[in-house]
Amino acid sequence: MSYRIATIPGDGIGPEVVDATLPLFQTAANTHGVDVEFVGYDWGSQRYLEEGAMMPDDGLDHLADKDSILLGAVGHPEVPDHVTLHGLLLPIRKGFNQQVCKRPAILFDGVESPLRGYEGGDIEFTVFRENTEGEYSDIGGREHVGFDHEVAVQSAMFTRAGTEAILRAAFEAAREREGHLTSITKSNAQAFSMVFWDEVVAEVAADYPDVEVESLLVDAASMDFIRRPEEFDVVVASNLFGDILTDIGAIVTGSMGLAPSGNINVDGDYPSMFEPVHGSAPDIVGQGVANPLATVLSGAMLFEDLGEEAVSEALWAAVRDLLADGDAPRTPDLGGDASTVDVVAALETRL
Ligand code: NAD
Ligand code: IPM
Ligand code: MN
Repeated sequence: MSYRIATIPGDGIGPEVVDATLPLFQTAANTHGVDVEFVGYDWGSQRYLEEGAMMPDDGLDHLADKDSILLGAVGHPEVPDHVTLHGLLLPIRKGFNQQVCKRPAILFDGVESPLRGYEGGDIEFTVFRENTEGEYSDIGGREHVGFDHEVAVQSAMFTRAGTEAILRAAFEAAREREGHLTSITKSNAQAFSMVFWDEVVAEVAADYPDVEVESLLVDAASMDFIRRPEEFDVVVASNLFGDILTDIGAIVTGSMGLAPSGNINVDGDYPSMFEPVHGSAPDIVGQGVANPLATVLSGAMLFEDLGEEAVSEALWAAVRDLLADGDAPRTPDLGGDASTVDVVAALETRL
């Protein structure tokens, strides 16, 4: 098979981790008889600073005919975050109806959790995050800016279609795994959106009698992600709650630099997009020490989504093998002193 994959390295460490890993994806694909062409887009904050826009007006048209998208990160210290994110990342997720955001959190062998007493294999769950609406709906506005009676409104919109889509994806995954699903709510405080969410959970659950559903309030869930992460398997949450929980998931399993994600267009009408959970990490940019493994695993998810299981498996196996090897190079976030390219080179030999 042959694929065309759009790459958007973006800002900060985004280009560091994407540029370093593309040759690795090329090797993994070629080894398994898969042909890939990467089509790069230099969109991001530098473009914004020079031309006033993060991507061209017809940016999504450029991406629409690609088989998939790999993105690095977006965010620049000199441009407000709401400008950069609303100019590039969020329009792709929403415009391509990437309703399902899948974010695995895995404590690999050889990786130390900041939590006492946990070893490789002890934590392994996936958060299914609603990805196009909810608290990120962009409904609201500001009035009387700068006056004493200033008002800012940011509404959350939950549609039946969007809520059902994320829940069905999560129930399907739970059915294939251990039959256990944790639904995250805040229905004690948010009596419209989250009570609706709970009702749709109950409706969809009727189609999955084999899946046991646990409902947790997001504050308690945040605590339990730290207190008893080993008990989670499939977790489903709204856009904002899923965002917050997946940073916790990343750090309890060792590092932001290890957490991959997929933004999936379930209908297959548009390309899906794969990206590390982390951002542009301005605190380490330019040092060459960004951990590339979150990007490698995002690439593994990308190939799995394309149906190229063997390529995906090879990438997962290379990462697992590298992390399990105490003598292999690792970046500072994992306690090592290796560079991004050292780690990629060590993966290359394992492919
Ligand atoms: P961040 O994820 O960029 O960084 C948080 C911490 O994790 C930092 O200490 C950073 O050094 C570390 N870290 C992140 N990725 C790492 C890696 N690969 N290797 C080693 N360490 C890593 O979050 P932030 O600092 O809150 O955000 C920085 C910018 O990125 C902001 O502009 C934010 O809006 C943006 N952001 C973008 C995305 C995205 O593009 N998907 C995601 C999150 C944040
Ligand atoms: C993520 C990021 C984005 C999000 C930001 C940068 C808009 O934090 O992908 O987790 O909230 O979705
Ligand atoms: Mn986030």
